[in-house]
Amino acid sequence: MKAINPTQTAAWQALQQHYQAIKRVHLRELFAADGQRFNRFSCRLSDQLLLDYSKNLITEETLATLLQLAEETQLTVAIQALLKGEKINRTEDRAALHLALRNRDNLPMLVGGQAVMPQVNAVLAKMERFCNQVIEGDWRGYSGLAITDVVTIGIGGSHLGAWMVLQALAPYRNHLKCHFIANVDGGEVSEILKSLNPATTLVLISSKSFTTSETMTNALTVRRWFLTSLRDPAQLRPHFVALSANAAAVAAFGIDREQLFEIWDWVGGRFSLWSAIGLPIALSIGFKAFEQLLSGAQSMDRHFVTAPFRENLPVILALLSIWYGNFWGAETEAVLPYDYRLQGLSAYLQQANMESNGKSVDRQGLPVNYQTAPIIWGETGTNGQHAFYQLLHQGTHLIPCDFIAIAEPHHPLVNHHEQLLANCFAQTQALAFGKTAEEITIALAAAPEEIQITERDRLPFKVFRGNNPSNTLLLRQLTPNNLGLLISLYEHKIFAQGAILNLFSFDQWGVELGKQLAQCLQPLLRKQAVSASIDSSTQGLINYFQTWNVQHGSR
Ligand code: F6P
Repeated sequence: MKAINPTQTAAWQALQQHYQAIKRVHLRELFAADGQRFNRFSCRLSDQLLLDYSKNLITEETLATLLQLAEETQLTVAIQALLKGEKINRTEDRAALHLALRNRDNLPMLVGGQAVMPQVNAVLAKMERFCNQVIEGDWRGYSGLAITDVVTIGIGGSHLGAWMVLQALAPYRNHLKCHFIANVDGGEVSEILKSLNPATTLVLISSKSFTTSETMTNALTVRRWFLTSLRDPAQLRPHFVALSANAAAVAAFGIDREQLFEIWDWVGGRFSLWSAIGLPIALSIGFKAFEQLLSGAQSMDRHFVTAPFRENLPVILALLSIWYGNFWGAETEAVLPYDYRLQGLSAYLQQANMESNGKSVDRQGLPVNYQTAPIIWGETGTNGQHAFYQLLHQGTHLIPCDFIAIAEPHHPLVNHHEQLLANCFAQTQALAFGKTAEEITIALAAAPEEIQITERDRLPFKVFRGNNPSNTLLLRQLTPNNLGLLISLYEHKIFAQGAILNLFSFDQWGVELGKQLAQCLQPLLRKQAVSASIDSSTQGLINYFQTWNVQHGSR
């Protein structure tokens, strides 16, 4: 696959000129000039998902030139390489074939010339058997009691996907109580274990590498917790399963092979919730609903791989992100789900996006001369309106926003839902069209004189510039299928963005240095350890820690 610097394409030059021509055009003008703008810049998928991208700072010419950028950077070739299981994760010499995990049609999928579907299907079948045993109470703990609580120990891609999905699909959950331990902070594991009975607790150690220090520290602590209640370590057996690619490390931990749910190195951690890493999901909503999640993702996969780029939702979102990040100077993107159950979505997308494309070296190993990943942040609506919308409306940043809403709630409170959706739509309207000084003045014309005088002084503070771009994604319902559609949409947006920007999106070397330094510093936190030559700030912090850490002092 040829690596192309996007800034050296004709499209990029054209976009730079086009930006000069369009930067002063207001969305008010664009909508006034085209009564069909919504129809022109919106698309639906399987009658379950609508993307309204009409409130973006684009014209047909903008879109055409952005699409030309996708063509000139050979996005189609990149998609084919993804599908063919090529080692597109070049620096780790791996494929990135998470599409195989939800390949419900069992199309042939190869990695290194080997068909992967037999192993994918074998693990899915094993997951199904296990889920049925646990859910139906046939899987018993050391004392003969059925499982009531499932604890997943994992972090990053081995945590965020399952954690986010289980919040989003709360209405589909069964009697099993699911808990997540991710942070190495002892406060989390202590809090979680407080409420648990070892006799009815199942622990999933979720780690592709089975070496991540936080996860292994938590796993050992939880195992010790069990051993305070058990007479014989052999009694641990029914309480621990592993979700991992590292069978040797799993065996060394003491988990039998039949209680290992395998994943593979050609599945990136942040793209792994569809694999055995998704076992907490399948346990909590049932395997059939988990399969619906997979099917939803497959629908979006099919769309991404086959739809012309002009109607391709992930490609359009990717191009819009590049347009704002590289021509409008936008540094961040806000993910604003107007649904309480999607409260974990922005955290999930932070890793998916920023760990994939938060790079500054291109596929030739050269420093990039353009913006790569945006900073992803966000909060559910309407909460965010009472926290940061002031900045969105009247701040100094251009912040493209993704509003996500669900037409049909899972609760009967109609008036709540109508208020929620009205706020969602109104915010995109206010962001797009704002409110001019003239409009404010006209609205005050009928007010008493003293009000008009007071308000005249406030006028500059009450103007809304508008022209803030947003996308609105409207799902018919938040079902497992539609959640799969949504997550896969963002996965492919991120992939397309990385491909166009000539990045390796599936490695994450940037997380290594901090981990290594932490391993060097941890021994230094103990009084008796002699510190190597480290900077005065770090040494100063260690000194204060040692002085103030009373618990430590008692050691
Ligand atoms: O954040 C770095 C990272 O490697 C992620 O890519 C990964 O999802 C996470 O740590 C956990 O890794 P593992 O699943 O191997 O424990």
